[in-house]
Amino acid sequence: KTIEYIASTESTQIIAHQLAQTGVSHGTAVLAEEQTAGRGRMARKWDSAYGKGIWMSIILRPDIPVQRAPQFTLIAAVAVVRAIEEVTGLRPDIKWPNDILVNGKKCTGILTELQSDADGIQALIIGIGLNANQEADDFSEEVRNIATSLKMETGKHVSRQELVRSILFYLEQYTEIYIKEGFGVLKLMWESYSTTIGKKVRARMARETLEGIAEGITDDGVLQLRTADGKLHGIYSADIEM
Ligand code: BTN
Repeated sequence: KTIEYIASTESTQIIAHQLAQTGVSHGTAVLAEEQTAGRGRMARKWDSAYGKGIWMSIILRPDIPVQRAPQFTLIAAVAVVRAIEEVTGLRPDIKWPNDILVNGKKCTGILTELQSDADGIQALIIGIGLNANQEADDFSEEVRNIATSLKMETGKHVSRQELVRSILFYLEQYTEIYIKEGFGVLKLMWESYSTTIGKKVRARMARETLEGIAEGITDDGVLQLRTADGKLHGIYSADIEM
């Protein structure tokens, strides 16, 4: 499998989208030392300082219907958590849908984008932003209180190379499990790392905010939120506060 390495780019997502259109194969990854316009979910920006983290986009070509695509965000989150555990000994949590937290602060975000047409998914672009070796003052003021890096949590420099190797290893392994056995086992793994499930949460969406108990996720990765009136709501996209 190919890894494209770039010193500086606006966003590895943009490069990956371009590469996917040229027909590169399943599993191709794009890595950059720095992103000048790294992007996060909900049109936010993503701090991507030179050499401090893993700024990576992976092109997958799974043969699945479009509505199953969110499952891959969840699978990627589990792969990253396993890699962080293996390389650092830390015990990260997942906050629905895709934030990876260590001691309550975010160290990794995942952004899944799609190229699709009438035939289904042409490419899934899984963007992983992992804060590896930042110090607190490497983060912009907006995120300083909510972000962390693996170095800040372990007190030690962490090897980005080992992390990338481990993330790609688990992502490949879990993709194979997914293709052979479906989402079941992987969903259980995701739930076991999740801090959201079983908690009282507030889901901020574009038009409304709902409060309730996060009861679980569906097979499509939709969060099930039970409000005080007993109704069950499916949450597709939101910011979760706990
Ligand atoms: C989020 O939590 O909002 C998702 C952040 C995703 C950041 C990664 S870094 C590599 C890839 N390139 C980007 O521009 N974004 C993703």
